[in-house]
Amino acid sequence: MNQNNLMLIVALFLFAGFVQASVVYDEFNGFDYKDYGANWTWEQVKTCSTSQVQSPIDLLSSDRNSTAPNQYMFARYETSKMLVRKFNTTIVMTAVNDDGLGYLYYITTLNVAGTFRLDNIRFRTPAEHTINGYQADMEVQLFHLYGFKKPVNDKVVVALLFKIDDKAPLDPLLEQVINTKHNETTSQEIDISRYLTMDSFQMNYFYYAGSLTYPYCSGSYNWVVIDQFFYAPSSQINAIHQAYQNTAGGLILKGNYRKTQNRTGRYVRYNGDATNPQAISNLHPQKKKGILNIDL
Ligand SMILES: *[C@@H]1O[C@H](CO)[C@@H](O)[C@H](O)[C@H]1NC(C)=O
Ligand SMILES: *[C@@H]1O[C@H](CO)[C@@H](O)[C@H](O)[C@H]1NC(C)=O
Ligand SMILES: *[C@@H]1O[C@H](CO)[C@@H](O)[C@H](O)[C@H]1NC(C)=O
Ligand SMILES: *[C@@H]1O[C@H](CO)[C@@H](O)[C@H](O)[C@H]1NC(C)=O
Ligand SMILES: *[C@@H]1O[C@H](CO)[C@@H](O)[C@H](O)[C@H]1NC(C)=O
Repeated sequence: MNQNNLMLIVALFLFAGFVQASVVYDEFNGFDYKDYGANWTWEQVKTCSTSQVQSPIDLLSSDRNSTAPNQYMFARYETSKMLVRKFNTTIVMTAVNDDGLGYLYYITTLNVAGTFRLDNIRFRTPAEHTINGYQADMEVQLFHLYGFKKPVNDKVVVALLFKIDDKAPLDPLLEQVINTKHNETTSQEIDISRYLTMDSFQMNYFYYAGSLTYPYCSGSYNWVVIDQFFYAPSSQINAIHQAYQNTAGGLILKGNYRKTQNRTGRYVRYNGDATNPQAISNLHPQKKKGILNIDL
C-alpha cells in the first residue's frame, strides 16, 4: 500500500459518520477466579473449555519473526466521561455516548481493516497475557467495536501491560477507578490518548485472533498486546489488585486473571522493531515471576 492510498483510506475513516448504540456486554457474574478459569467447564460457560481460539495466551520472542508488511494502527481518542460499573470480578468502564472514547484505525492487508470505536475498558491484576512467560502487574484492556466497515473479525482489544514504578506519576485513569466508591457512577473526563496516539502504530505490538478472557469466552476478538510497559506507582496498582482480587473468603487471593490458553497452532504476528530495548520481549527474554510474585 503506498502512502497516498493509505492517507486516502485514513481520510475516509476519519470523516465517515458513525451511528451505533453502545453494546451492552453480557456480563455474567456467576464465576470466580479461584481456579483462574480452569474450571469454567459447566454447561452455561462451556465455550470456555470447548473453543479452540481462547485468550489470553503466552506471547513469545519467536513470534516476532512473523510480521505482516503494510499493517498500520493508530488511535484518535477523545476525552469523554464513562460509566463505571463494579462487577464481582472486575470494574468495567463503558462509554456514555455513541462515539465512545474515539477511534482506533486498523489497516492491514490481511482483510482486517476498519475503524473501531473504543467502547469499554476492563482491568486485570496481574496481567492475563504473558510475554515469554513474564506476567506484568496489571493489564488494562481497551475493547473496541467496529464502526465503519465490517472486517473478518469485528472487534479489537488493545492490551496495555503495566509495571509498578514508584517514580511514575499517578495515572489519571487508575485514579478514576480507585476513587469510584459506588456502582454505576459517571466518571470525570477520561483521556485515553495519553496511552495511544496517532503515532502508536510505531509501537511494538503482538496481535492474534482470540476470545473474551471471561465467560462466555466468546470469540472473534483481535488482540493487540503492546510490547512495551506502561507505568504506575504501587499505591495505584495494589489498590486495584486489592479491590478486584479473588472474592474467595479465606483463600490466598491472587487476582482476577485467567490462565494462559492453548495457542492451538494460531499465528501470532508482530509489528515494530524487534531490537527495541524497551520491548518487553527484550526486557524479559526468559520465563520469570511477576512483581506480585505469581507462580507461572
Ligand atoms: C457477587 O458477589 C456477591 C458478594 O460477594 C455475592 O453475594 C453474589 O452471589 C455474587 N454474584 C454471583 C452471581 O456470583
Ligand atoms: C472452581 O475451583 C475453585 C477451587 O479450585 C472452587 O473454589 C470453585 O468453587 C470452583 N468453581 C466452580 C464454579 O466450580
Ligand atoms: C527468528 O529470527 C531470528 C533472527 O532474527 C532467528 O535467530 C530465530 O531462530 C528465528 N526464530 C524462529 C522461531 O524462526
Ligand atoms: C453494579 O451494577 C450492575 C448493573 O449495571 C450489576 O450487574 C452489578 O451486579 C452491580 N454490582 C454490585 C457490586 O452491586
Ligand atoms: C493444544 O492444542 C493442540 C491442538 O491444536 C493439541 O494437540 C495439544 O495437545 C494441546 N495442548 C494442550 C496442553 O492441551
